[in-house]
Amino acid sequence: MTTSRNHTAIAITGKAMVESIQMPTVEPNSGEVLVSVAYSTIAAPDVYMVDGALPTKPEDYPIPLGLNVSGTVLAIGDGVPKLKIGGRVCAFTLLQEKSKGLQLKAVVHHTLCAKIPDNMSLKDAVTIPDNFVTAFYTIFDQLGLPFPQPFPATAAPPHAEAPILIYGAGSTAGQYAIQVLRLAGYVNVIATASFRHHEYLRSLGAKDTVDYRAPDMADQIIRVAGGKVQLVMDCIAAEGTMKKVAQVVCPNAKVALLLPIKEGESLVPESGKMWMAVPPNRNPFGEDVKVIGVRTFLYQDNEYMKNNLMPEILPYLLKENLIKPSPIRMFNQGTFLERTLAALDLVRSGKVSGEKVVIQVA
Ligand SMILES: NC(=O)c1ccc[n+]([C@@H]2O[C@H](COP(=O)([O-])OP(=O)(O)OC[C@H]3O[C@@H](n4cnc5c(N)ncnc54)[C@H](OP(=O)(O)O)[C@@H]3O)[C@@H](O)[C@H]2O)c1
Repeated sequence: MTTSRNHTAIAITGKAMVESIQMPTVEPNSGEVLVSVAYSTIAAPDVYMVDGALPTKPEDYPIPLGLNVSGTVLAIGDGVPKLKIGGRVCAFTLLQEKSKGLQLKAVVHHTLCAKIPDNMSLKDAVTIPDNFVTAFYTIFDQLGLPFPQPFPATAAPPHAEAPILIYGAGSTAGQYAIQVLRLAGYVNVIATASFRHHEYLRSLGAKDTVDYRAPDMADQIIRVAGGKVQLVMDCIAAEGTMKKVAQVVCPNAKVALLLPIKEGESLVPESGKMWMAVPPNRNPFGEDVKVIGVRTFLYQDNEYMKNNLMPEILPYLLKENLIKPSPIRMFNQGTFLERTLAALDLVRSGKVSGEKVVIQVA
């Protein structure tokens, strides 16, 4: 039974089992806020965990799903400088069970929360946190591009015209990478995606777009880049995408791969085989290429990003209308469990295209 000390959550409760359960509602500790959740999301990592491709430990069950939250602040612990009870926020939930999004009440550290401006809806805001953070962390920490201060940049960065390839830019991770690079002053971003996304990706800041299904994709990229490319973010990180990226990079290139590495071509491999590093017998890159496996869950090891990315930079970008939320595929019909299961099926099918899968929670 639901009491004021319990709330409903959708969680992994066993191998390939997802159920609606009651979770204890905890008070926020110092530095944390309690959020009444309105919307959350289902993304590939939720499916990887449910299906066992990313192993979960039985002692950790139940594990609520949902890497993003949007909602209203209900309570605040000590030491939370900028948020108020009643304020609207979106948050990246990282991995803590009490923070995950598919529950009516989530406790999140304030450094993972961003204030939402009045003119932005909670459903748009929930599409942003995980992949906005991923884009920022990949570009300025993992690939090591200089971080412009102030952000957005007011002057061109060094090598502003160097070609940067965002492979699989139809993904929501890719959409934010293009926007973050534009705001940092990079003007030669090349995006690969299905043709139907090209106009949208150019509106976000891509200079050139190439269809990854074109037989001459590698030639097209090399042509628009004016040669082989030095910096790449592969947002898909499957065996097939790595092989294609390997055709267009120069020696000494840096390639950031959004882990895990998937067997085959797709985000959710049928075999369920995935790796947290490129297996040596499947590595298509030359020895000179620096391959970086990105784990955004570690982004708070970067103190600057921990203290600024969600609390300061994202609220500013939203208030000034400088960053666009992703298009939405909304699940708001049936019970909370039914809409979550339907969303998991959609993501598992590989049919998500250029949109964030959003679940109405309350
Ligand atoms: N390790 C990390 O830090 C980290 C962080 C964030 C995300 N990730 C991982 O990154 C991946 C993307 O996440 P996401 O949330 O951005 O996914 P998403 O938005 O669900 O991605 C869907 C898009 O993937 C594109 N796609 C699928 N297969 C492709 C292929 N073979 N070549 C090119 N594009 C392909 C499709 O593009 P079209 O519509 O153009 O066909 C589709 O629009 C997931 O595996 C996720 O787990 C990892």
